This record gives sequence, structure tokens and C-alpha cells, in this order.
Amino acid sequence: MRKIVCLLGSPRPKGNSAAMARAVCGAATEAGASVRTFPLNDLRFSGCQGCLACKKKSETCVLKDDLTEVLEAVRHCDGLIMATPVYFGEVTAQLKGFIDRSFCYLKPGYPHLPRGERSRLGTGRDLAFVIAQGHPKVDLFTDIYPRYEYFYRWLGFTQSRLLRACAVYHLGDAEARAEVLEQAGALGRELATGLAADSPPARGAG
Ligand SMILES: Cc1cc2nc3c(=O)[nH]c(=O)nc-3n(C[C@H](O)[C@H](O)[C@H](O)COP(=O)(O)O)c2cc1C
Repeated sequence: MRKIVCLLGSPRPKGNSAAMARAVCGAATEAGASVRTFPLNDLRFSGCQGCLACKKKSETCVLKDDLTEVLEAVRHCDGLIMATPVYFGEVTAQLKGFIDRSFCYLKPGYPHLPRGERSRLGTGRDLAFVIAQGHPKVDLFTDIYPRYEYFYRWLGFTQSRLLRACAVYHLGDAEARAEVLEQAGALGRELATGLAADSPPARGAG
């Protein structure tokens, strides 16, 4: 059974990105995956302190707070879902807090290691990015996904997908969009079996 971890980056538990993530997770569960969801806004944790202890003396992040369990769950997952609204053209602070702390997955000397050997997680994991964007223009904020897809490839998330809805602003907007829910269902089913290696990276991993 594939293990999926879902991180909710929005402070709105009934918001658009959470609804989209719920649809992904529901389909994944139905298709036989086990899913563990963490609403990051309910957790108390610090941002990365840049202490580099995870590069000098520890295999894990030395900060001990509510994120410790999340980092441990992601360490053992097959697939990771990161759901977030667009806030000022970026992911939310709640999700960015996790992303910065995921620096602990990188091995010491990672910039000089060959691709595929940089992560303590190995390779072959799946990443699904779920983005709810208020603005209707689809060519705005397109940089978010390729940026994290690129870095998470370093962390061993070899395959990735984007589920994105634009022009969703108010509570309930995403749930009213049949095509979004349909794409969410398809993504969930794909995550349950493992993402196929058919999509080239949005930007070459360096
Ligand atoms: C602080 C804040 C910043 C936002 N910044 C943007 C933005 O830069 N671009 C955009 O398209 N929408 C922006 N929005 C709108 C949200 O992306 C939109 O309402 C989204 O559906 C919220 O997702 P949620 O329901 O999962 O919280 C912003 C909303 C807030 C509260």
C-alpha cells in the first residue's frame, strides 16, 4: 500500500486548495493508498534556523516542534501532496516553513553530489502540487510550481504533477468546478499506483 502525505498550506480548512487536496486524497484512498493529512496552520513550528546541524552532526532536523512528526512522515512516504493558495505570488508562509525545513533531507556536500544522490530520501518519490489561485489569468504565477518541482527533484521526488485552479477566490469556488474535481480524482488515482514517468521536468534539474 502506497503511503501518501498531504500538507495543507492554507489557513482555511474549507478553502479551495483544501477542497482540491481532499478530492485528490479521496480518490487516492479509494484506489487503495493510505493518506495522512497535516493542516500546517494548526501546527506550531519555527522556520529553518540555518544552523546546518543537519549537514554537520545530525541526519534529521535538530529543531523539535510540531513539524518534527511531519518531516518524519514525509521521510517515509511514497507520495507527497503540497496544497496551497497563491499568496503574493508564492506559496503560503505555512507551506514555505515546511519547505525550508525539508533542507534536512539534503546530504552534506549535496551541491557537489551527482543528481540522484543528493537526498537522504533516495529517489523515486512522487510530488503533487495543488495550487488555488484567485487571479483568473492563467499566465500569472506560473513560476511557483517549476521552482519547487526543481528543488524537490533534488530531494528525491522524481515524478511530479501540478493541479491548479485559477479564478477561485471565495470558499466553495473550487468545489463548484467539475473539471478541477475531475483532474483531482485522476491525480489521486495516479498517486495511488505511482506517477508514471512520462512527464519531463518543467525545468532541468541542475
Ligand atoms: C494574503 C493573501 C494573498 C493573496 N495573494 C494572491 C496573489 O498573489 N495572487 C492571486 O491570484 N490570488 C491571491 N490571493 C487569493 C487566493 O489565492 C485565493 O483566494 C485562493 O482561492 C485561496 O485559497 P484557499 O481557499 O485554499 O485559502 C491572496 C489571498 C490572500 C488572503
